[in-house]
Amino acid sequence: MSTTSIFLFLFSSLFIFLTTHSKSIPHITSPYLSPATISANYDAMVKNFKIFIYKPNPPFTFDSPVQSLFYTTLLDSDLATNNTDEAHLFFVPFPPDLTTRSVARLIRTIRSEFPYWNRTLGADHFYLSCAGIGYESDRNLVELKKNSIQISCFPTPDGKFIPHKDITLPSLASSHAPTSNASRFLGYVRSNWVKESTLVNELRTNPEFLVESEPSTPRIYAERLSSSKFCLFEYGGGDISGIAEALRFGCVPVVIADRPIQDLPFMDVLRWQEMALFVGKSGGAKKLKRLLVRACWERHDQMRGLGMAAGHHLAWNAPPQSFDAFHTLIYQLWLRRHTIRYVRRESA
Ligand SMILES: *[C@@H]1O[C@H](CO)[C@@H](O)[C@H](O)[C@H]1NC(C)=O
Ligand SMILES: *[C@@H]1O[C@H](CO)[C@@H](O)[C@H](O)[C@H]1NC(C)=O
Ligand SMILES: *[C@@H]1O[C@H](CO)[C@@H](O)[C@H](O)[C@H]1NC(C)=O
Repeated sequence: MSTTSIFLFLFSSLFIFLTTHSKSIPHITSPYLSPATISANYDAMVKNFKIFIYKPNPPFTFDSPVQSLFYTTLLDSDLATNNTDEAHLFFVPFPPDLTTRSVARLIRTIRSEFPYWNRTLGADHFYLSCAGIGYESDRNLVELKKNSIQISCFPTPDGKFIPHKDITLPSLASSHAPTSNASRFLGYVRSNWVKESTLVNELRTNPEFLVESEPSTPRIYAERLSSSKFCLFEYGGGDISGIAEALRFGCVPVVIADRPIQDLPFMDVLRWQEMALFVGKSGGAKKLKRLLVRACWERHDQMRGLGMAAGHHLAWNAPPQSFDAFHTLIYQLWLRRHTIRYVRRESA
């Protein structure tokens, strides 16, 4: 082979390498699953959406800050209506510690005192329960669980979440702003994100990973988030509630899970698959590192950009802001408002 043909050969191999790589990683600029429709749908929601809230008796407050913020924000918002004719959805608030038997009694009362439950058997109703409701044999609870939209806290305990119907609340995140963009670590593992395991021990000895053994202060936490390329979480075992913060701070989440995750916050709005890596449990530190190095080369910048662009959807504000966690949650409810209402048949 002449020098020119060697050169041409190398050049064409490089070309093939580059094109196959750029083909396998599509260039994505929007964090939304439906970028073409979100803004029109969102505007229609702000203009039209109405929610009727059953009056709890006696009144109560939610104990967790995120549920309480959601509830008070909803009560104070223009979404709340007392006109049931214009309501798209009906909200059944009940205290977090209410026994399942009392929840069943509450639904039975709503069913007999108001005409709305029977029209859809609860499908245009929603409720808030951090831990979610499990399967029960009582008819009222069956309808509540199977038909009504459940809003639980992310992550929802096993078996308590029905995909495409239910929704999760992202956790309240720290308000610290990102402090630096200099990447010092390939991977960051906060003290409770991944369960103690041989993997964690292997990562501890690797200088490219920062594995905390004690929880850091909020300021140091924010600094570590923004100076690491990837943040490692374990689904089912570790504490995954920091995933939203990681996104906002530009630390691409890597979720170690041995099954698909169906209850990520805002799953039918955001492109989670493009903003986070989902990896299996087997393989150990070597394989994990190889994967992260490759992702760094191929798609880290794009993932980080999309995650940060999606970040404001995961932030709670009081009062709420456009497209923030409160409004994105409401938007998910708006997407679920189409239910069939049965006309009541009068007995002859
Ligand atoms: C609905 O009625 C209750 C009690 O009469 C009142 O406190 C509340 O402000 C009303 N809500 C709206 C949205 O008008
Ligand atoms: C709803 O249907 C149940 C029977 O399934 C009935 O007992 C109840 O009275 C109905 N509610 C109303 C408000 O008509
Ligand atoms: C880090 O980068 C983001 C986007 O690339 C930018 O908006 C932000 O201002 C930067 N932060 C600092 C502290 O440089």
